[in-house]
Amino acid sequence: MQNNQNRIRILCIGDVVGSSGCAMFQKHAQELRRKHAIDALIVNGENSDNKGRGITSRIVNFFRQNGADIVTSGNHIWANKEIYNYLAEHTDLLRPANYHSSAPGVGVTTFLVKGNTIAVINLIGRVFMRDHVDCPFRTAESILTYLKDKTNIIVVDMHAETSSEKIGLGHFLDGKVSAVVGTHTHVPTADERILPRGTAFVTDLGMTGALNSMIGMKKEPIIQHLITQLPVKFAVDEIGPFIMTGVLIEIDAHTGKATHIERVKLIDDELRVQSSESV
Ligand code: FE2
Repeated sequence: MQNNQNRIRILCIGDVVGSSGCAMFQKHAQELRRKHAIDALIVNGENSDNKGRGITSRIVNFFRQNGADIVTSGNHIWANKEIYNYLAEHTDLLRPANYHSSAPGVGVTTFLVKGNTIAVINLIGRVFMRDHVDCPFRTAESILTYLKDKTNIIVVDMHAETSSEKIGLGHFLDGKVSAVVGTHTHVPTADERILPRGTAFVTDLGMTGALNSMIGMKKEPIIQHLITQLPVKFAVDEIGPFIMTGVLIEIDAHTGKATHIERVKLIDDELRVQSSESV
């Protein structure tokens, strides 16, 4: 692969969970940028708060200072009310575009990379998700109309529970966007590929956090809940080793089509996370 003006290399990192995920991101994001000659980094941060749900303005700034260009989110974006003002005033943190227009923030943004405009769209699925949002497919279509004269380099984060809804959106947008990457389930899938009309796709990016956890959270209370069905308190797992996963996508800047996609996976068994650690 060549890194020149005509090629844009974008790293998409899966949901960062709590203090563990933030510590991994801080240690490795810049290093990954250098190692893979990354032009832009998009990270899903909706679980990056210390309790493993939501995000704060401080954490968005932390991501930006440590190598992220755009932070995407999902259903947990509303967990901290403090973030509402940030969403209303900034465009480097996205909330899913298919929430009601009165919700704070935006679901699409653009930024410049090597003189090229890159657009990022954040959508949320409806299958097995609690919030009754607008159709992500139709929302994507109307955003593409808005982007028509602006850029053809477009990356979509589809935050959804089911593989079917994410794969369906991938095919629906094939040839219309550069990449569709799934988030929310925190388990990386091995189906990364370039779809027939040139859109890079992966069903799920995976996550950044404790490897031997359940989606970044301590497994014991969750297993207890699965057995007893009684309510339990979830907590971020801060015991290593830790993992960071995502995909690297290369895009032809002229056509907006993807030319390459590969999974990125990093395991760190030396990192130590203090339970009191906070960003
Ligand atoms: Fe989520």
